[in-house]
Amino acid sequence: MDRKVTTLSEIPKWHYSMLNDTVRNTAFQTAIADRVTATDRVVDIGTGTGLLSILAARAGARSVDAFEAHPDMAGVAARTIAASGVADRIVLHRTMSINVSMLRDDRRDFLLTEIFDCALIGEGILPALRHARAALLSDDYRSIPQAATLHGALLSAPRIRQLNEVSRACGVDVSGLNHLQTKGHFPVRLATWPHALVSDAQALLHLDMLEEPPAQAGWNVAFTAEADAPVDGLVAWFDMDLGAGRHITTHPAAESHWMQAFVPFPEPVAVRRGERVDVRLAVVDDVALTAVPDRAFTTDLRQLDTHRSLTLHQNDLVPTRPVLEASAS
Ligand SMILES: C[S@@+](CC[C@H](N)C(=O)[O-])C[C@H]1O[C@@H](n2cnc3c(N)ncnc32)[C@H](O)[C@@H]1O
Repeated sequence: MDRKVTTLSEIPKWHYSMLNDTVRNTAFQTAIADRVTATDRVVDIGTGTGLLSILAARAGARSVDAFEAHPDMAGVAARTIAASGVADRIVLHRTMSINVSMLRDDRRDFLLTEIFDCALIGEGILPALRHARAALLSDDYRSIPQAATLHGALLSAPRIRQLNEVSRACGVDVSGLNHLQTKGHFPVRLATWPHALVSDAQALLHLDMLEEPPAQAGWNVAFTAEADAPVDGLVAWFDMDLGAGRHITTHPAAESHWMQAFVPFPEPVAVRRGERVDVRLAVVDDVALTAVPDRAFTTDLRQLDTHRSLTLHQNDLVPTRPVLEASAS
C-alpha cells in the first residue's frame, strides 16, 4: 500500500508569513476602511485568500471583483469569502485579471491590489496595472496602494553573492551551475548576512498606481561610493503609500515579512571612496530588475587593499545611512 508521508505544497510558502504580517494587514485594513466608500466598485487583483476583498466589502464597497489565478488559492478564496458574511457583494474570478475585459460603461472605480514582491515588480504588477487601466478601470479610478518607491544602495556582501554564484566545491570546478543562476533580483534578509552598505540610498524606481507604468527599457541611477570597497550589487527595499496616511516599508531595519531585494552586478566591481558609480537598471520580461555598472571600473579588485578590513555589519542598520567602515583608513 502506498503511504504518502508528506506532500510539497503547491502554493508559495510566503502566503503564510504574509498573512501573519500584522503590520501589512493592519495598514491595508485601515487604508481600506478610510478610503473605500459605499459607492465604490472595487477590483482586487490577486486576492489570494480573499482577504482584501472581504475588507473592502466590510468597509461598505458596493461590489468587489476579486481575481485569483492560482486554482488552489482560488478555492481557498471561495471558501473564505463564502464564510465572510459579505459574499453577496464579492464576485470571484478564477483567472488572471489580464484575461478579463469590461465594457467601458461598466468599468470599476477602485483598484485594490497587493501583488508586490521585494522589488515591487516581481509578481507582475506592471502588466496587471497596464491591463487594468485599459480594460477594467474607469478613467478616474482611485487605488490602494497609491504609489510605491523602490530604494537601493551599493552593497558589499560576498556571502549574498554566493547565494547565486559558485566556483569550486571540494576542488571541483562547479561553475557550470552559474549558467542557471537567477539573472535579476532575488529576496534576501539583509540583516542575516555579513554586509556593508557602500553608499547612501537612491530612488531606483517609482510606481504611481494612477499612471501608466514605466515602459522604459533601462535607466541610470548615480551613487557616490562612501568607501573603498568591492561592490556585489544593489540592495533594495520599498516604501509604499496606501493613502490616508498609511505606509508600509520594507527597509532592512523594519519588521516585515517582505525581505529586501538583492540585485546582483554581473561581477563584483571595485569602487573608491568619493567615486561616482552610475548603475544601469533595466526591467526584464516585466518582472525582473537587473543592474549593471555603466562603465568599466579602473580599479581592479586585487588593488583594493582596504577591502579585507571592511567591517561587515549584521543587525545594526541605521535607516538611510551607510553602515560601512573601512578601518584601515
Ligand atoms: C501576494 S499574494 C496577495 C494576496 C492578497 N492580495 C492579500 O493581500 O492577502 C498575490 C496573489 O495574487 C495572485 N495573482 C498575482 N497576479 C495576479 C493576476 N494578475 N490575476 C489574478 N491573480 C493574480 C497570486 O496567485 C497570489 O495568490
